[in-house]
Amino acid sequence: MLSTKDHVISKLIKADGYISGQALSDELGISRAAVNTAVKALKEQGYDITSVTNKGYKLLNMPDILSYGQIMSYLPKSRMEKITVLEETDSTNRVLKELAFDGAPEGTVVISDCQTKGRGRLGRSFLSPAGTGIYFSYLMRPEIDPAVISTVTCWSAVAVSDSISSVCGITPSIKWVNDILINDMKVTGILTEMSVEPEIGAVSNVIIGIGINVNESPSDFPPELRDIASSIRYESGRQDPINRSELAARLILEMDKIASGFPTDQDRYLKAYRDHCSTTGLDVSVVSAHNHTSETPRLGKAVCINDDFSLKVLFEDGHTEDLSSGEVSVRRR
Ligand code: BTN
Repeated sequence: MLSTKDHVISKLIKADGYISGQALSDELGISRAAVNTAVKALKEQGYDITSVTNKGYKLLNMPDILSYGQIMSYLPKSRMEKITVLEETDSTNRVLKELAFDGAPEGTVVISDCQTKGRGRLGRSFLSPAGTGIYFSYLMRPEIDPAVISTVTCWSAVAVSDSISSVCGITPSIKWVNDILINDMKVTGILTEMSVEPEIGAVSNVIIGIGINVNESPSDFPPELRDIASSIRYESGRQDPINRSELAARLILEMDKIASGFPTDQDRYLKAYRDHCSTTGLDVSVVSAHNHTSETPRLGKAVCINDDFSLKVLFEDGHTEDLSSGEVSVRRR
């Protein structure tokens, strides 16, 4: 539910300087007293807002809060209609799936500050603590053969990479098929889930779930993940937190480009994916998606990304395979 506070903070961020209490009250259609109350509540949340007689309010500093109000300051007002921002939920993919079944349109987004049952690939869980990451789900309704669903995931990996580059000033790489890495450490995972209409076998909706580790410190990860997972802030050597709301807003715009460009923009996304993919040329070990816990890994070399985003692997016995799913680990020497 959109609050007066959300509107006021969005205006203060956009103003980029002083804005008078009267202007806020006129533009938002609320009383001066309501403006004062909202400013007071924002200050209590950690926003540093100064007020000067005859000039009005100015935002000096803001805490890193993933909020509807902050996200709104980076997007056109009309785009906010299909966005839900939650403080906590079990899984944004689950929430969005419910909205999709109720008929939510393409472009509907659910974002949460934390998840209690974040879902990962291959039935794993996804660590989703409060205050540091972005847990984000985007609804698409593409006309697509269920067999090529991984294309959407690969396009999304490009969207995530582009968003991080433009907001955080560091360009991540993509580990096939859908992990986003900085310095070889995983900073983002993507879980795409689709629903198919059983009678006709057509895709009715696709939910792209994206979990981004933004501001975590190594100690925020359990010991067993510390060698493989990290955050954008830590890997880019920044002291200050990255503004999660700005990154979430950028991601919404990049995902919108995917939704509107699908499937015609295939060449652009394929090229970008190949440019960013760090798996090709490396020694890899491969296990299939359905047997990943019990199977003995097969060793080979990742050769290239095919036109359908499958990964061509040359195995040690000399035969090649085009993998469209599965778990690929890079073997470091
Ligand atoms: C993976 O790397 O295993 C994929 C992780 C995907 C996590 C995201 S967080 C937002 C969305 N909601 C979920 O429950 N999972 C995805």
